[in-house]
Amino acid sequence: MSDPTSPPTEPGADSVREGLRQRDDLLADAAERARRYLGTLGTRSVAPSTRALDELTRLEHPLPEHGSTPGAVLEQLDRIGSPATVAQAGPRYFGFVTGGTHPAALAAAWLANAWDQNNALYAMSPVGNALDRIAIDWVIDALGLPNGTGGAFVTGATMASATALAAARDHVLTEAGWDAHADGLIGAPAVQVITGAEAHTTVSKALGIVGLGRSRARLLPTDDQGRIVARNLPDIDGPTVVILQAGNVNSGCSDPFPELIEWAHAAGAWVHVDGAFGLWAAASPARRRFVVGVDQADSWATDGHKWLNVSYDCGIALVRDAADLRAAARSDAPYLVTEESVREPMHLSPQSSQRARGIEVWAVLAALGRQGLAELVDRTCDHAQRFAAGLDDAGFSVLNDVELNQVVVDFGPATDEIVAAVQAEGTCWAGPTTWRGRRAMRLSVSCWATMSSDVERSLATIVSIAQAHTSREERQP
Ligand SMILES: Cc1ncc(COP(=O)(O)O)c(C=O)c1O
Repeated sequence: MSDPTSPPTEPGADSVREGLRQRDDLLADAAERARRYLGTLGTRSVAPSTRALDELTRLEHPLPEHGSTPGAVLEQLDRIGSPATVAQAGPRYFGFVTGGTHPAALAAAWLANAWDQNNALYAMSPVGNALDRIAIDWVIDALGLPNGTGGAFVTGATMASATALAAARDHVLTEAGWDAHADGLIGAPAVQVITGAEAHTTVSKALGIVGLGRSRARLLPTDDQGRIVARNLPDIDGPTVVILQAGNVNSGCSDPFPELIEWAHAAGAWVHVDGAFGLWAAASPARRRFVVGVDQADSWATDGHKWLNVSYDCGIALVRDAADLRAAARSDAPYLVTEESVREPMHLSPQSSQRARGIEVWAVLAALGRQGLAELVDRTCDHAQRFAAGLDDAGFSVLNDVELNQVVVDFGPATDEIVAAVQAEGTCWAGPTTWRGRRAMRLSVSCWATMSSDVERSLATIVSIAQAHTSREERQP
């Protein structure tokens, strides 16, 4: 590999030659280690052991004066890092709303990392640009959103909401005669924000980022599943953004879109939907009814890294009128070779330089097809229903209507102890929550690889641990 034309004394030349020489072996070693790691997921404890966590202290040393070989670095990463992971890529991780990377996404990501494409502009990556555009179009199609909707890949649903809300803010203020894009919010007419009392915490974060305030929103009351109650809705006056939800993070239930969107649009308000995972119900003919009417909104935020099972970090901002998204996100400089005729990711998203997140989304959608995607949604929802039925049969209180992939179960006063014991036992992993004033365990079935056998094994473990922590009287007959 050595280049005879480089002078032997060039500083760092040896290390460049060494890097090139080792590259093939290193990649083969990484692939083998990754393969071994993924092979352990079916049998290892989902939570890392205390010993594995203690070993992390070995990484706590000052920046070394002299480096190691990349092979030695990889060996250390695998030896210390792999055991200290939470097995989120495995089939029995039911924490948060977290999928496990689909093999099509993982393999595509490896290749795309080797490509090392900056997807800001077409000129930098024709292939990244094409796959980004195709992936956005396929997502819009799969979710049943209007033709012509504009979209951009961002880091997650939080940033997807922030991006769409920037477009919403600029649009409603333009309608009110104020150029927020140029002049910001100082001196602007007040923008009214209305959302449900059960909006996800990241909605207020997104509102803060776009200058609409974390605490200014008027909160509409919700029912026992966290859906906005579409009665006695307030009058809307002036520039207004209404934020609705597809898939409550606890119950999985969605707001009644037709009534709420009709009310908001009648007053000229912009409607944004936070559908981080719940929007994907629209991809299943059997579950579409839970989000009926969501396509009438003006913007949507969703994730690829939850139910679609691509790797982190992948959120998707979608705006009905692509011109609104472009107006909020565009940036110009003489050196930016912008093709007016192509869709440039950096002019549609808050990022300039960006990895081509669309590649993994494209790969999973290409691998699953419309039917495979619907099956993924249905299979995980069916698993959630099986969890709910099994917990109910054992006498525990399932607190939500299991419409989608979420189950919230209250084990009584010992709930926190039971959640901790389930996590420590290691068969599966689920987290705690507080749902309408009750402490509960929350299970989210989002991984492509979860099979009925994983659900039965996890259910048996949870029930047995919960029974050991509760008396017969505490359980329902
Ligand atoms: C309804 C909802 N909105 C927003 C988010 C935030 O998503 P992200 O972590 O991708 O920013 C979540 C995460 O669980 C969610 O469930």
